[in-house]
Amino acid sequence: MKRFGFDHYGDPTVFTTIEAPVPVPKPGQVQLHVLGFGLNPYDASLRRGEQAAFRKLAFPIVPGTDVVGQVTALGEGVSAFARGDVVINYRPIGGYSEFVVASVGKLIKKPAAMPLAAAAGLPQVGLSAYSILQVLALAPGQTLAVEGASGGVGALVVQLAKLQHLHVIATASARNADYVRRLGADEVAAYDEVAVAARFGDQADATVNAVSGGQDGGAGVAITRPGGTLLTTADAAPTLNGKALDPIQLGEGKPAKPESAFPALIQAFNEARLNVRVAKQLPFTALGVQEGHRLLESHHPAGKLVVMHEPA
Ligand SMILES: NC(=O)c1ccc[n+]([C@@H]2O[C@H](COP(=O)([O-])OP(=O)(O)OC[C@H]3O[C@@H](n4cnc5c(N)ncnc54)[C@H](OP(=O)(O)O)[C@@H]3O)[C@@H](O)[C@H]2O)c1
Repeated sequence: MKRFGFDHYGDPTVFTTIEAPVPVPKPGQVQLHVLGFGLNPYDASLRRGEQAAFRKLAFPIVPGTDVVGQVTALGEGVSAFARGDVVINYRPIGGYSEFVVASVGKLIKKPAAMPLAAAAGLPQVGLSAYSILQVLALAPGQTLAVEGASGGVGALVVQLAKLQHLHVIATASARNADYVRRLGADEVAAYDEVAVAARFGDQADATVNAVSGGQDGGAGVAITRPGGTLLTTADAAPTLNGKALDPIQLGEGKPAKPESAFPALIQAFNEARLNVRVAKQLPFTALGVQEGHRLLESHHPAGKLVVMHEPA
């Protein structure tokens, strides 16, 4: 079977096709034929070698935390899934493959109404958005600001926040402002048209900075009321510029487990048609992965980048 990975760090062209034996499920695992996988900024940081100091991985490295696949074999003791089930899987690594094995706790059945490409894009951003709302623990009626609300993480935070009856104020580029309103945001400021800091100054009880790399020009600090919470999804801690805020870095806490987050996300999809926008489907080839990684590092159209066996 094919896997897509690299044996040295570098730009997207380091991805090649690697031949490997089809993995056999251990007790409590299933084997999946991968129908598609999602790409995330974390995968690109792995490829650039930025995670090498924190996570010891041997080459070749095959990234991939987000998979949608069909169950093809069952390990001993597995009764919750059957051959033929189409499932969503969140995994530590290795999803860029034709076949994977996965523990049953990291799986959930894909709702029939959820498109395959959306399912491939859901796991990591879904778990992140779910964790963010859990950590913030806001009460209905409180104001949450979401910066980067058109992005993979931001768009899900907006939708889950509305299901919790929060008042959501959001930032995105003008080209995506209507999309963010359709997701349910109560007010949207286009960061490329208005001064966000002035428009939403001191309004948010909590702010989520889900801007690529956290580069919001200090707007999150200005938007959050004194004493409020500023949560960043970026690797670096937020700079508070002397304002009395409670800073949180998402990566520092323990992320929500798929066992608790997946059922909540699927319930949100079934009840409210949680929208996972797909920016582009790439072909299931090393060239498709390379192109996906080039887009990942660009200011690409809003939505998830996914690699699928059958691109639309
Ligand atoms: N993917 C994950 O599961 C995950 C998990 C943990 C942490 N993170 C981190 O979270 C961040 C976002 O990830 P993502 O996957 O959601 O990225 P993404 O889909 O590329 O979205 C990034 C968003 O940032 C917005 N943006 C860019 N400049 C902005 C500005 N000045 N003000 C407001 N918004 C701005 C973009 O909006 P427009 O396109 O409308 O300009 C875009 O929607 C990254 O730093 C990532 O490392 C991601």
